[in-house]
Amino acid sequence: RNMADPRAERTFLAVKPDGVQRGLVGEIISRFEKRGYKLGSRQIRLVVEPVKILIFFLQPSKDLLHNHYAELSSKPFFPGLIEYMSSGPVFAMVWEGTDVVSVGRKMLGATNPRESPIGTIRGDFAIDVGRNICHGSDSVGTAEREIALWFTPDEVVSYGLAQKKWIY
Ligand code: PPS
Repeated sequence: RNMADPRAERTFLAVKPDGVQRGLVGEIISRFEKRGYKLGSRQIRLVVEPVKILIFFLQPSKDLLHNHYAELSSKPFFPGLIEYMSSGPVFAMVWEGTDVVSVGRKMLGATNPRESPIGTIRGDFAIDVGRNICHGSDSVGTAEREIALWFTPDEVVSYGLAQKKWIY
């Protein structure tokens, strides 16, 4: 926790394979960036040919996904969820800022996109719960667990408050 901003948090966000393949990475990053949150991850695991740019993609293993979604293992949709999430690259990110866990969830919208308000990411871009394009941690504790699962400590960066003086 940041002493100068006791409500500063980190959350784990991921653009799921459908969001990546539909070209929504930039849109999702843009919404969080414009809101005033800071991207706090610099993970580089896969360079997609032929574009030699540094990107934050990884194709999650089924082991990683079983761990990530461990509490859902008895749900009927679990096998489909693992297939979907391991079907292509995922854009994994850490974002930081005041109340970013709960505000981030509001920005993503409801799990079922059809119940998600217009103006949210899912409400604007998705239809099906099984193709809901993005993931966000549901609590500060979950965020810590998920960040530790997807990132090593040196892949996570933090911004000083001085760099946020126009936001806070
Ligand atoms: S539950 O049942 O309340 O625990 O589920 P919920 O918290 O709403 O969702 C947990 C994650 O499971 C995904 N999910 C589904 N995927 C595929 N098909 C169906 N029917 C389905 N229902 C829920 C949901 O998107 C959540 O994943 P994340 O990655 O957090 O979005």
